Amino acid sequence: MSKRILTGVRANGDIHLGNYLGGIRPMVKQSNELANGDKLFMFVPDLHSITTPVNYSNLFATTINNIRIYLASGLNKDNEDVYLYRQSQISAHSELSWLLSCFGYFGELSRMTQFKDKSEGKANVSVGLFSYPILMAADILLYSADYIPVGDDQKQHIELTRDLAIRVNNKFDKEIFKLPKKWSKQLEFMNIDEGVRIRSLSDSTKKMSKSIDDPKGTILLKDNPLDAAKKIMRAETDNLMSIDWNWENQPGITNLLQIYSLLNDKTNEEATNDWKGGDRYGDFKKVVAGSVETFLMDFQSKMNTITDQEILDILVKGEQKAREISTPKLKEFQKAVGLIKN
Ligand code: TRP
Repeated sequence: MSKRILTGVRANGDIHLGNYLGGIRPMVKQSNELANGDKLFMFVPDLHSITTPVNYSNLFATTINNIRIYLASGLNKDNEDVYLYRQSQISAHSELSWLLSCFGYFGELSRMTQFKDKSEGKANVSVGLFSYPILMAADILLYSADYIPVGDDQKQHIELTRDLAIRVNNKFDKEIFKLPKKWSKQLEFMNIDEGVRIRSLSDSTKKMSKSIDDPKGTILLKDNPLDAAKKIMRAETDNLMSIDWNWENQPGITNLLQIYSLLNDKTNEEATNDWKGGDRYGDFKKVVAGSVETFLMDFQSKMNTITDQEILDILVKGEQKAREISTPKLKEFQKAVGLIKN
């Protein structure tokens, strides 16, 4: 059975090694391994970026840069089944979002934890932030996506998307929207697809996060490679003095093993076997630091060769293709609702 995979990476904030290894890299791999009939949708949810105040004068550049990161990471842009686009430039997203908002309930949206977290204690919370999950449902349903590789924090949004699709399909007694797979299936898919969660270098019980919150624990893709190597050298470990893959007892060492395995294209077992039982954490760290340094140098030099114009040309093409898929889906729903006849 062919499958459709869809994901959006927000265009605000700097992308770190955790985003890259856990989110972007598996997608890039997918783009090179699509089976016949599979499709991969990768877009920038730039309309979601403005649900909270951002630096508007930078938004365009950040969006373009996100696409540049995908390309420098090796995304197969020449595969006809790979779709790269900006959410804002496909008007069907905004249009479907409105229609779906008339089927979404105030109560269910009020229960979204991301909304509660992001709005807590704020004086002025935008209506856009409240209806954020509806727009996300539109992003997914327009393309009949099966798999949506996202973090646990998005689970509720995926479930809401399914609920909305079920509600609409029942209402009109017709399969207008394809249901994305259940969360458990999403997890299965993401695990096949690595299930990587890179931890902070300063506190290996936490996920790597934005660098303002945790400068020592976070490696940004734009960091100076030598500085990044130093962060690895200073990464938190333990005093067991024996290297092994063990998230429970040695999360710091295991995190480094994971970084080492991914950057050197090794399996977890291969990486562990390279180092298992070793007691020289310093030597191990030097090798991991070297892998990170080489990766960043290589990545950054690729970034520098991709021009804005090249990216815009790719987007124009990708957005054209995205419209061809999303417009008929929007029309189908408009017809059901009674806005158009044919
Ligand atoms: N909400 C997602 C996040 O914060 C980004 C996003 C928007 C998204 N629309 C999407 C992800 C559709 C997957 C599918 O990470």
